[in-house]
Amino acid sequence: MAIVEINKEKCTKCNACVAACASSIIISQPDGYPRLFPKADEFCMRCGHCVGVCPTGAITHQEMPPEQCPTIDKKLEPSFEQVAQLIKSRRSIREFQDKPVPRDVIESVIDVARYSPTGHNGQEVQWLVIDDKEKIKELTAIGVEWFRSMAKGNDQWALEMQGILRMHEIGLNIFLRNAAAIVITYAEKNNPIAATDCAIALSYFDLAAKAAGLGCFWNGYFYFSAQTFAPMVKAVALPEGFTPYAATCVGYPKFKYQRIPPRKPGRITYRP
Ligand SMILES: Cc1cc2nc3c(=O)[nH]c(=O)nc-3n(C[C@H](O)[C@H](O)[C@H](O)COP(=O)(O)O)c2cc1C
Repeated sequence: MAIVEINKEKCTKCNACVAACASSIIISQPDGYPRLFPKADEFCMRCGHCVGVCPTGAITHQEMPPEQCPTIDKKLEPSFEQVAQLIKSRRSIREFQDKPVPRDVIESVIDVARYSPTGHNGQEVQWLVIDDKEKIKELTAIGVEWFRSMAKGNDQWALEMQGILRMHEIGLNIFLRNAAAIVITYAEKNNPIAATDCAIALSYFDLAAKAAGLGCFWNGYFYFSAQTFAPMVKAVALPEGFTPYAATCVGYPKFKYQRIPPRKPGRITYRP
């Protein structure tokens, strides 16, 4: 069986599959049905656009059985206003209720976030969830060590680290706050697109988490330290050759936001 099969009884020769094929392995024919490029299975990106776009269900992809390709429920599509509201009202949440986030809730959010775009449809993003209180305590202590190692000197960064340390000295944990879990996206170190893929995936997580009643704040300090600071690298313990590219702290928000603070206007340039 070819990687993509076109059922000629159902195909209307609309060529939507040709237009949608990201790998250009489906070729239009002047007067006939679209056909496959030679060695299609080698070049196919497995993005499923051909299956997704076909208006008559004429396409079968060898690796995408129909039960894995549900029909899009148009009734569930949010309006522009609803999407705008979700994006604009999402805030970095830094104070959480003292209750754990069940793993199945985090998994349901990741189950949505995994649909984020990835370079060449690589889907190389992996997820690490740290939700053990003792482990989070251990990571907090290592984080403080990292701040200490970064606090030397008088440059802007060192001054910021000194400020954070002063807060920790008076008992304010502004590193991981009182998050119930840390969610990290990671991938191979030598994958040039992975940092972008991981950041997009975590952004999707962030938005879906809000819709699921959770709150998050991105934690740059966490993933910077987990990329380079040996004790943190060891404690996070990713497989050899992998690195974290993004991280967020998660929990049930303690407070509800009532207003949307302003942001800079979009600075848009058009080239004539
Ligand atoms: C890449 C990145 C790293 C961040 N790192 C931290 C962090 O380490 N600690 C923190 O409290 N907030 C962190 N934030 C959250 C920002 O401070 C926050 O997005 C910004 O203040 C705007 O607030 P908003 O997210 O509520 O719109 C980070 C955000 C991004 C995008």
